[in-house]
Order: sequence, then C-alpha cells, then structure tokens
Amino acid sequence: MATAALVRRPASVLPKISSSCSAAVLSAASISTGQQRKLHNVVISKGKGGRSSSSGIAATVFGATGFLGRYVVNRLGRIGSQVVIPHRSDQYDMMYFKPMGDLGQILFMEWDARDKDSIRRAMEHSNVVINLVGREWETRNFRYEDVFVSIPQQIAKAAREAGIEKFVHMSHLNADIRSQSKYLRNKAVGESAVRDEFPDAIIMKPSEIFGREDRFFNYYANMRWFGNAVPLIALGKKTVKQPVHVVDVAKAIINAVRDPDTNGKTYAIVGPNRYLLHDLVEYIYAVAHRPFMPYPLPRPLYLFAAKFFAMNPFEPWTSPDKVDRFHITDMKYPGLPGLEDLGITPSSVEQKAIEILRRHRRYRYLEADLDDAKPANTVNY
Ligand SMILES: NC(=O)c1ccc[n+]([C@@H]2O[C@H](COP(=O)([O-])OP(=O)(O)OC[C@H]3O[C@@H](n4cnc5c(N)ncnc54)[C@H](OP(=O)(O)O)[C@@H]3O)[C@@H](O)[C@H]2O)c1
Repeated sequence: MATAALVRRPASVLPKISSSCSAAVLSAASISTGQQRKLHNVVISKGKGGRSSSSGIAATVFGATGFLGRYVVNRLGRIGSQVVIPHRSDQYDMMYFKPMGDLGQILFMEWDARDKDSIRRAMEHSNVVINLVGREWETRNFRYEDVFVSIPQQIAKAAREAGIEKFVHMSHLNADIRSQSKYLRNKAVGESAVRDEFPDAIIMKPSEIFGREDRFFNYYANMRWFGNAVPLIALGKKTVKQPVHVVDVAKAIINAVRDPDTNGKTYAIVGPNRYLLHDLVEYIYAVAHRPFMPYPLPRPLYLFAAKFFAMNPFEPWTSPDKVDRFHITDMKYPGLPGLEDLGITPSSVEQKAIEILRRHRRYRYLEADLDDAKPANTVNY
C-alpha cells in the first residue's frame, strides 16, 4: 500500500468527514496524548470534490468484491477517496475496480477473515470502515454464524481499537432473532454484536436489493429456464416486498459516512413502493417480455426441492433459506430514519427494472418499448 507521506496523530482527533482539516489541526493533534496511528495524508480534504480531489475519506471496504461493493467503491472513488479493498481472490480478477478511483487511490490487500492481524492491517491507514461481508448460502468453511456474527464482530472490534471514526455495517431489513430464516436470525445477532463492540456503528438495514448483478430480479427472471413456470408459495399473494435499488444503497452509505450526525444510528433502507411478490414477479416477466406462468407450491415441497439445489458446492441457485427469506414480508420501521433522512430520493422498480431485465429479453424484443409493461400494483400494508 502506498504510504508516502504519513501523518502521525491520535485516533481521537480524526477529522470529521464533512469538515475540512487543515495542516494546523493536524500538527496540533500530533501533540495530544492517545493511541498513535499512521494515516496517509489523503484524510486531509482538499479540492473541488471530483475524483482527483481528496474527500478526506480513506475507507477500508470489507466485502467490496460482492454485488453491492462495486457500487460503494465507485461512489467513494468518484469523490476522491482512497479505498482499501481487502480480498481473498486473485488481484487480476479485481482490476475492474482500478478505474473507479484516481491513480493510486484504489488499493488491494489480501485478508483472511479468521486472521485478526490481517483485519487490523487492512484498516491501519483508514479513517472509515465499511463492512459488506455476506453470503447467501453456507459453506463447509463459513456458516452464517461466521459470516454474519463473528466476522462483523471482529471487524467492529478492530475498528474500535484502531480508533476508526466511522464504521458502517450492513444488516438486513428483516433481521429478526425469531425469523424462520437462519440468515436473518444471524443478521439480528450480528447487529447487536456489532453494536456492543462499536456503539457508534452506523447500521444499515436494506430490504432485498435490485440491480444488474442482483440475486433477486435475476433469480426470478432466470426461472424461465424451468419452462417459464414460476413457483411461489401461496402464489406470492401473502408476501409484500419493498425492494431498494443498489445505487440508492451505495449513496446511503456514502452520505452516512459524510454526515457527522449519523454515528450510532440504524437506518431502514427501502424503496418507495411495496408490492405483492406475485405482482412484482409478474412485472419482472412483463419487462423481460416473457410469459408469466406462476403456480402455487406448498412450502414443504418448495423447501424439499430447494434442498437439492443447495447441494451445489459452488453457487447454489437457491436454498431452503433463500426460499423462506424471499417469502417473508418486509418489515416496516416507522421509527427508524431512512433514505430521505440521508438526502436520497429512492428510485422505483419501474424506473430501474429495464437496466436489469433487458438482457433477459429475446433478441427481437431488446429495444421494445417499456410502456408495454403495465406498472405493478402497489400496496400500503
Ligand atoms: N444483496 C441483497 O439483496 C442484500 C439485502 C440486504 C442485505 N444485504 C447485505 O449486504 C451485504 C452485501 O451484500 P452483497 O449482495 O454485496 O453480498 P455478496 O455479493 O454475496 O458479497 C459478499 C462479499 O462478502 C465477501 N465474503 C463472504 N464470505 C466471506 C468470508 N468468509 N471471508 C471473506 N470475505 C467473505 C465476499 O468475498 P468473495 O468475493 O471473496 O467471496 C464478497 O466480497 C451483505 O452483508 C448482505 O447480507 C444484501
């Protein structure tokens, strides 16, 4: 990692992200007592705000190599932040990150989630840590308890010890200790584990996220491989979903990092409309110009079939947990702040679906008018 000009200063005086930090502040900081950290001079904000300026953010993004990660790194890079990407894959598979920031601003660092030193090293020169680590399915090496509880806990602990000022943790809207989904139960435990380790953590609770590389809209659109018949528990008429667009989630993370008043808050990150799962999937098929043939599948049968897919040692197409998760109605949190409180107007499914679904169309419908698809009915319960 490039560490040309290091500024030694106590963790307790890391600059407020939203304010500029002068050299005088930095030199005053270096004489106070406290834990000494080495921070690159990128934490001094300067410039007009574009990719060649300095936002004052040096962020370590754990889980950047996933679906949401690339949008977060892109948003950080375009405002002139330095981003450290801890990874466990080949560096050459991640070169798509490089143009997202200015020269030398996107840095890769190998890490092992079970090695506390590698977690510490990854955030050594950062003032912001974002945890996006997650997995839709369990593996022999990493169970949901590891991915959603132990790893976030270790990252939160290391962030607190390193004096990180802003720590963002991704949870899930439906995280609930009583949920029938193990994923969501562990998300709930992870939330409180993170809060205990890092009380000022900013916890984001997004609903299912849709976007080009998602495993939600693409999952349903790909069901056409099974003869266009879409299995839905109770025909999807008992489940209400409020999906959120991936760019809105990425913007929410960046705005939360830049706003000095977000520490310690939990955000419910949802889209503008609520839909019956049936209507949502019908709209997905309408935009994809494919016939929609839903059929009701009893839950035990669906779970039984999903068990076979879950045996895939690579990326299982579905799993019993995913079936349950997708049939859970999205919770409402009227008491929690949301996208609007972070200055974001959420995009609707109708505005963005075509970006995801055009590639599911047959060639002759590639340019077909979007108006052919009647917008999905919304509900308010
Ligand atoms: N996508 C959604 O609809 C949605 C909705 C609500 C909440 N969330 C949460 O938002 C976060 C990001 O979601 P996403 O869709 O971007 O997830 P994703 O595409 O599955 O990416 C997960 C990231 O976590 C990393 N990771 C997983 N297990 C790891 C391990 N054992 N050690 C090290 N790294 C590990 C992956 O690294 P590799 O590339 O090396 O595997 C990848 O970078 C997750 O916490 C997820 O639960 C997502």
